[in-house]
Amino acid sequence: MSELRKHIDEAVALIRTRTGSKPKIGIILGTGLGGLAAEIAKEVEIDYADIPHFPVSTVESHHGKLLFGTLAGKNVVAMQGRFHFYEGYSMQQITFPVRVMKFLGVDTLLISNAAGALNPLFRKGDVMLIVDHINLLGDNPLIGPNDDTLGPRFPDMSEAYSRDLLSMAGQVALDLRIGVQRGVYVAMSGPNLETRAEYRFLRFIGADAVGMSTIPETIVAIHMGMRVFGVSIMTDECFPDALKPVTLEEVIAVAKKAEPNMTAIMKEVVKRL
Ligand code: HPA
Repeated sequence: MSELRKHIDEAVALIRTRTGSKPKIGIILGTGLGGLAAEIAKEVEIDYADIPHFPVSTVESHHGKLLFGTLAGKNVVAMQGRFHFYEGYSMQQITFPVRVMKFLGVDTLLISNAAGALNPLFRKGDVMLIVDHINLLGDNPLIGPNDDTLGPRFPDMSEAYSRDLLSMAGQVALDLRIGVQRGVYVAMSGPNLETRAEYRFLRFIGADAVGMSTIPETIVAIHMGMRVFGVSIMTDECFPDALKPVTLEEVIAVAKKAEPNMTAIMKEVVKRL
């Protein structure tokens, strides 16, 4: 048995001492987007610090808890607080909770993040359904020996974001009368925001939004055969020829403002799963 598999089993064993819940839906909430957690009827909360091999959050805007409960009547497990590459965690650490979720019974992963808008037709506060991604993090959580019991050496990425979930979410947005964008998410390591030249480059290579998360979790979820659905909130406009300075406070303020739309979509998607 691989070291990784042993670590997963140990984490699952601890969680099983606290809850017998077998949610099929996993949720990862992004920066400033913890509000969906408030909508979960919580049954059990487990501090990351209590779970063997779980990394612990360092970013102030993130809480480090695994939440079990129901959302729109469905059993869910949600990560309140996620890990970023720029915090110094390895890709394996960042994605460890996704592996644990899989072994708890999760087959569908819903992810949210705060991102900068690259597409000039997008505006601050827009919600974007993630159609595809470009990994420019400069690393990959699958590098190293592959545990074939977890997933294949060369996972297929032709449908990283489930088309069924995308079309269902599109219908949800229509029904709720919430306008949404669709686009390609690119991840950079950060922690600095990008330069004008970098934004120009990212737009040129086909990205609509840029952030610093989500892709490692998606890659590992796909490796383990899960379905992924992702939503980005545009917290700032990254237009190289009209660029203004951005602060974390502004990013969080815009995320908070747009959050009800994202939360409503996520909740209804969960309901229809
Ligand atoms: N880059 C630029 N703007 C952003 C980002 C990013 O990674 N995340 C949120 N807004």
